[in-house]
Amino acid sequence: MTTVEPGVARHYEISGLEQRILAALAETGVDIAHLRASDLEAVDEFHIGGVAATRELIDQMGLTPGARLLDIGSGIGGPARFVASAAGAEVTGIDLTQSYVDIATSLSKRTGLGEMTRFVQGSALDMPFAKASFDAAVILHVGMNLPDKPKLMSETARVLKPGGVFAVYDVMRLKDGDLTYPLPWASDDTMSFVATPDDYRSAAVAAGFSVTAERPRGAFAIEFFAAMRARLAAAQATGKKPSPGLGLVMGDDARTKMTHLVAALEGGILAPVELILRLG
Ligand SMILES: C[S@@+](CC[C@H](N)C(=O)[O-])C[C@H]1O[C@@H](n2cnc3c(N)ncnc32)[C@H](O)[C@@H]1O
Repeated sequence: MTTVEPGVARHYEISGLEQRILAALAETGVDIAHLRASDLEAVDEFHIGGVAATRELIDQMGLTPGARLLDIGSGIGGPARFVASAAGAEVTGIDLTQSYVDIATSLSKRTGLGEMTRFVQGSALDMPFAKASFDAAVILHVGMNLPDKPKLMSETARVLKPGGVFAVYDVMRLKDGDLTYPLPWASDDTMSFVATPDDYRSAAVAAGFSVTAERPRGAFAIEFFAAMRARLAAAQATGKKPSPGLGLVMGDDARTKMTHLVAALEGGILAPVELILRLG
């Protein structure tokens, strides 16, 4: 375990999160007893762009039904459930935060995807899987917490089969500039390891991957947050409670975290970037 991991896990822990999510959804009329994976989309895709971003990433992977997919830093399981339902993949998620693993497992059972998805606790930098266990892998908004990108890449290369695709969608640094904390992934700078696309590419190539596509998604990210602000303002104007969203998983200081992130996106310092990598 790296020295930063206990602090990172504490950053993400929110007590009673599953019950809060279910209660918030029930208030909007969702039938919790017959929950569908799509009912959770607004709250269980913990990255910029939500399910639309997951769909666009997955569409570039050429997954076939039954493919064994690894989701590195699987959070509360939204992307894993999406890929299991949309592409028929059998998904294994690994995440550092034990309560997220428990919530992901429970939400998959509640949505009838308990057989297609499984979640285990562990570190992206030391994964408890045998060599060549998976056909493909994804990582969405996790690398910002990983101090060692070469280790991420070599671990992923180890557990992938030759020819396997690794789709990365992380927030990366595009130019110099100070970051203000808290950010959605870090309470302070001791747990934030945002790297440049160059850092990712060189770590990937050293681990045996070739880069087949790269796409910065800064404008998409800015639009995503603008739409979120517009929804919140519209709800406020009509005196309605805003519908449940990512704020639920980001905790009490969600607005501050998002404000700091939006400033870095608008300043061109940070942007989410997609990288599609192929082993060998
Ligand atoms: C912003 S969330 C993204 C979750 C998920 N990928 C998604 O898009 O919904 C970041 C996740 O990375 C996990 N994480 C952070 N460091 C990790 C590590 N060293 N190994 C595995 N997971 C880690 C956190 O516990 C958290 O669930």
